[in-house]
Amino acid sequence: MSRHILIIEAHPGGHDGHLCGAFADSYAAGAAEAGFLLRRLDISLLDFPLLRSREAFENGPIPESLIPASEAIQWAEHIVFVFPLWLGTMPALLKAFLEQVFRPGIAFQYGESGIAKKLLRGCTARIIVTMGMPVPIYRFCFGAHGTNALRRGILNFAGIRPVRQTFFGMIDQAGPERRKEWLGKVEMLGHHGK
Ligand SMILES: Cc1cc2nc3c(=O)[nH]c(=O)nc-3n(C[C@H](O)[C@H](O)[C@H](O)COP(=O)(O)O)c2cc1C
Repeated sequence: MSRHILIIEAHPGGHDGHLCGAFADSYAAGAAEAGFLLRRLDISLLDFPLLRSREAFENGPIPESLIPASEAIQWAEHIVFVFPLWLGTMPALLKAFLEQVFRPGIAFQYGESGIAKKLLRGCTARIIVTMGMPVPIYRFCFGAHGTNALRRGILNFAGIRPVRQTFFGMIDQAGPERRKEWLGKVEMLGHHGK
């Protein structure tokens, strides 16, 4: 059986004209060539409300527009998130999406003991992030806090692990050669389904 890979694009400005979109395409090309089963999701194209209450999170229905996305997450054995770093973390659009989709019954289940059962165990992930600052500054001065929150607080909590990360920094300064090299690196990740 081929590995199920879901690519989630989360640039609020959409796919076109952004390095994030090109990375998603490169990953998909590598994964398709290797024969993985692939699904893609561009969150910028989805219309969904913000989650407003604990009651809605725990007992409310998932918005209809997000049902295919939640099914794709349950189908996936490996999820690739691609987004730009905004104010040190994931764009609010992605957080809003995860608040709606990573809810009880899909991502985890509250048990009698109070310890949540992780429903997405067995799934792995990669986070691909573009940013304006140099990567070492993000890693060492900021402690990669934004992506660590996504890895540990959301994905690991649901059982998704390991969560690997690939960062691309100073992207405005990167010329065509550099970008081509980066796209090749991401295509190889797709080829290996990592
Ligand atoms: C609202 C906003 C906030 C941003 N915050 C950061 C930040 O905290 N750190 C950083 O390195 N780059 C930051 N950037 C730069 C983006 O990460 C960079 O523009 C993006 O990775 C490249 O995507 P693009 O295709 O939209 O240009 C920010 C950009 C925007 C628009």
